[in-house]
Amino acid sequence: MPQAHLTLDPSFRIAPVDRRLFGSFVEHMGRCVYTGIYEPGHPAADDNGFRTDVLELTREMGVSVVRYPGGNFVSGYRWEDGVGPDRPSRLDLAWRQIETNAFGLNEFMTWTRAAGVEPMMAVNLGTRGLQEACDLLEYANHPSGTQWSDLRVKHGVTDPYGIKLWCLGNEMDGPWQIGHKTAHEYGRLANETAKAMRIVDPGIELVLCGSSNSGMPTFGAWEATVLEHAYDAVDYLSLHNYYEENGDLPGFLCSAVDMDRYISAIVATADHIGAKLRRKKKINLSFDEWNVWYQSRFAGRERLPFQEAPELIEDTFTAADAVVVGDFLITLLRHADRVSIACQAQLANIIAPIRTEPGGPAWRQTIFHPFALTARHARGMVLRVEPSGPLLETERYGEAPALSAVATVEGSRVALFAVNRSPDQDLDLTARLPAAVRPVSATVIAAGDDPHRVEALPQPLTVQADGDRLTARLPAASWTMILAECSIGDEV
Ligand code: AHR
Repeated sequence: MPQAHLTLDPSFRIAPVDRRLFGSFVEHMGRCVYTGIYEPGHPAADDNGFRTDVLELTREMGVSVVRYPGGNFVSGYRWEDGVGPDRPSRLDLAWRQIETNAFGLNEFMTWTRAAGVEPMMAVNLGTRGLQEACDLLEYANHPSGTQWSDLRVKHGVTDPYGIKLWCLGNEMDGPWQIGHKTAHEYGRLANETAKAMRIVDPGIELVLCGSSNSGMPTFGAWEATVLEHAYDAVDYLSLHNYYEENGDLPGFLCSAVDMDRYISAIVATADHIGAKLRRKKKINLSFDEWNVWYQSRFAGRERLPFQEAPELIEDTFTAADAVVVGDFLITLLRHADRVSIACQAQLANIIAPIRTEPGGPAWRQTIFHPFALTARHARGMVLRVEPSGPLLETERYGEAPALSAVATVEGSRVALFAVNRSPDQDLDLTARLPAAVRPVSATVIAAGDDPHRVEALPQPLTVQADGDRLTARLPAASWTMILAECSIGDEV
């Protein structure tokens, strides 16, 4: 049986767990908003039209931040259409939809409060610019006494929202983006918009668009150029990436290797520009779209008829997808020193952990479980654990470690998250801790026996303790969470 080892040591600190790593994303796309989170007339809808079944699942998932309203949608969006009594229907060119604007900023903000999540707003830098971004910020965050803030008050919202997180556009490097720009055009616009927005509200945090994914022809160069323009004006740089199996299960199970390399490359690029500009300030990362997405099954928007809330990319996820999502969360935690925000895309129906039927039930997909368990149990300080063990040979990524792992520690409470990426071999794991350890519980999602099944409820896993060691057999293609008690000491 292949063996793997790891060491849990309080001096291997990465960073405190930032709750913002457990973010999600609500876009006006398909049925994410309409018949997803919002469905007036549904038996479970509250007085605001919010589906309380979806609200409950969102809270159960432990979602911390929700990015809104897009995505590609935001690059053609007029935010004013979604506030006040007059809500015009418009063509949404991003997804060829008819947007009724029944749900807008104020509905979203009421929903975030019901869900207990922090809002993360995106401004339109595709068809619009600096002025409209400042108008929206003034409407949302300025107390009163100006046209836009008084309009908010007139719309029944007396107190300013104080929205902190703002994205400067979405995927502006992508030729598919409405109002796509070159890196120089976007970098300048983002810098000027950021400076002006900070005058409206100095308390905001700003996210600059990085590449749409690591396969873009301008990847790397885009980040360097936009950062040269906007380094001083922004706080974070965004990353997006989606992964799919494409008939290559062994490679797919190692997807987090790519996520890991992508993050390291962007950290290096951001620090290179920081050094070149001789800045002490570090730019941290916002991985604000990540997930499994079976993009090869999506025919593309060109063939879509214009429709209201169409059924769009409602992927059904498998046990293997749950394992890969668990590994993405491990990877994000392992980079918690530089990745400050992460949003799984999206929350409901669109490539989502939560699915709904119009007028019918809401349910959890396989990928719901590793997210909910990690969000609930990753607490305190993130520790790297120096895993060692067999290497896997993959066509996609070359050599990849079979074991991926990270730990968090809060007082004497230890949570260890591990993935065995081997599609067909179990792995005997030994974890060495700094003192005697007592296992509290262990949970596994194993995909090895039937990776494509669409149910993957977490199951108990047997763990042995012997003094300062924990041992467990990690099944092939599995995600595991071990909770334990151990006197780690005061160092953490
Ligand atoms: O999440 C779906 C889409 O993927 C978003 O609209 C876009 O930003 C990305 O390309």
